[in-house]
Amino acid sequence: MTTNQTFTMIKPDAVAKGYTGKILDQIISAGFRIKAMKYTRLSKEQAEMFYAIHKERPFFNDLVAFMTSGSIVAAILEKENAVADFRKLIGSTNPKEAAPGTIRNLFAESIDANAIHGSDSDENAEIEGNIFFSKFERF
Ligand code: RTP
Ligand code: MG
Repeated sequence: MTTNQTFTMIKPDAVAKGYTGKILDQIISAGFRIKAMKYTRLSKEQAEMFYAIHKERPFFNDLVAFMTSGSIVAAILEKENAVADFRKLIGSTNPKEAAPGTIRNLFAESIDANAIHGSDSDENAEIEGNIFFSKFERF
């Protein structure tokens, strides 16, 4: 049922640099439909919960500090094969390895400030979307 949806956040670096519109344009041009969207800022507790899977990793504290450093845009997106196609659209985690034309290649500066998040599985897409949006906030 959720295989056609994914969840994204435009991260604080990209929002602060004014790339929100350009990134949304790429997402929409690639055929994703916006099912829900909000402009907000994560608390430390929210960022720790969102990235809980990485809590034992050496980069966890930096990741939480970065994700709480400014505003983000969160959205649920719909398209056939959404999770895999969106990961392709955003490119590798490290922008130095991101393929030309991908969102991270165009807009990210480092492995920490890498412009955008995309869910890595259908299961996580559903969990992440539910963290940010109630049933009444989806169309
Ligand atoms: P995201 O969850 O944000 O979409 O990124 P991702 O799937 O491409 O990468 P993931 O492995 O889930 O890591 C989450 C975020 O942690 C930072 N990271 N740093 N220094 C490192 O080795 C390292 N590895 C990951 C990145 O900012 C990544 O987006
Ligand atoms: Mg990830």
